Amino acid sequence: MSETAELKLGDQKIDLPIIVGSEQEKAVDVSSLRAKTGFITLDNGYMNTGACTSAITFIDGERGILRYRGIPIEVLAEKSTFLETAYLLIEGKLPTQDQLENFTNRVRRHTMIHEDIKRFYDGFPRDAHPMAILASVVSSLSTFYQHEEVRPDSEQLSLDMVRLLAKLPTIAAGAYKKSIGQPFVYPQNHMSYCENFLHMMFSTPAERYDVDPVMTETLNLLLILHADHEQNCSTSTVRMVSSSKANLFAAITAGICALWGPRHGGANEEVIDMLLEMRASGDSVKKYIDRAKDKNSKFKLMGFGHRVYKNFDPRAKILKAACDKLLARMKISDPLLDIAKELEEAALKDSYFIERKLYPNVDFYSGIIYKAMNIPTRAFTVMFALGRLPGWIAHAKEYGEEVGNKINRPRQVYTGPTLAEYIPINNRV
Ligand code: ACO
Repeated sequence: MSETAELKLGDQKIDLPIIVGSEQEKAVDVSSLRAKTGFITLDNGYMNTGACTSAITFIDGERGILRYRGIPIEVLAEKSTFLETAYLLIEGKLPTQDQLENFTNRVRRHTMIHEDIKRFYDGFPRDAHPMAILASVVSSLSTFYQHEEVRPDSEQLSLDMVRLLAKLPTIAAGAYKKSIGQPFVYPQNHMSYCENFLHMMFSTPAERYDVDPVMTETLNLLLILHADHEQNCSTSTVRMVSSSKANLFAAITAGICALWGPRHGGANEEVIDMLLEMRASGDSVKKYIDRAKDKNSKFKLMGFGHRVYKNFDPRAKILKAACDKLLARMKISDPLLDIAKELEEAALKDSYFIERKLYPNVDFYSGIIYKAMNIPTRAFTVMFALGRLPGWIAHAKEYGEEVGNKINRPRQVYTGPTLAEYIPINNRV
């Protein structure tokens, strides 16, 4: 007999089914609550609401666990490539050698964007935010690849997924080139995914450019670490849009827009802004730490703390090691990075941060690494989008394949005026 939860509402008692996940997480299924009692549940900010069941990613914030399809992030970070991880997330299992070669070749063959898309870039203002360009151009893909309703698990959907994975780096690098007034660089399909992206970002037709293997390796790692994080704001948005049966390009565009916000993908940009402010002010690191501890000040150390990871963020742990390695191997000297190191060391020793389990999060190190890689600050969230794309695709696919899936349509508790009169315009005050 399956477990149920008993709910008492006034004189009424009802049983609600308990759903148990594969990692023994338990949830009360309230989907029948309104029909049985007239009540709905209210949970602002979805602090305690499971919006779906999903077999893609498992997170245990207390124990610092993150696994894609059961495989620990530490293992993938050490052994996998971004495209292999993308396959894992999307298809549900690691590819065989043949499957990986086939997938990689398919992605390779779709890296170019239609020449007419390139003309869109001419119309954007030079100072347009790269996330706005990314969202606009990805949205425009559905004007080039128009189809009637795409069935889940169809060849057409698979092709659209490949197109997105292949073209997003080209579109993102194009946005950067536009912002600095340099010509577009075409993809080089003999290069790996990450190498190709760095080449499109940093080479020019005028000079030879050899992609630094340390940068390629670091980028591969960063993209793997960002590839999925279960029901975060942008992924939930992708699932929400997919639930209306809008096409995949539209759903991914919505995900990009959700990611853009400073509460979500924009935090690593804020880390650099904070470090710039610290350098400009000339104030000591101690003074900033004191400000962050002062309850009368609204200031928080950007890049410290996490809503889900209350012990440590496993991605931050991996990135810290990568960050140290990158800075040492590239022999980078940057006063901002010196401030970051000093801040990290001071906060890790400070009892306020220790007691509250406030560790540097993934955004702290990714911000520093992107800065060291010469990625412009405004493009940091674009990098996040490149990494998160396989996760978005995997969730859209999972949603589409769910038997009996429904349009996502939350309810509300109405707090506006009760029945009101329509007053003719001349009588209104
Ligand atoms: N600096 C100083 N104090 C902090 C910080 C910080 N960065 N983060 C949390 N605290 C303090 C809080 O003031 C609170 O103190 P109190 O118990 O004395 O009242 C305590 O630590 C607990 O913090 P909460 O705010 O309750 O933690 P919550 O889970 O709500 O917030 C969050 C997590 C939003 C990430 C927060 O730590 C924060 O604002 N950090 C800075 C922004 C940041 O780096 N965001 C990126 C998150 S990672 C990601 O999105 C990929």
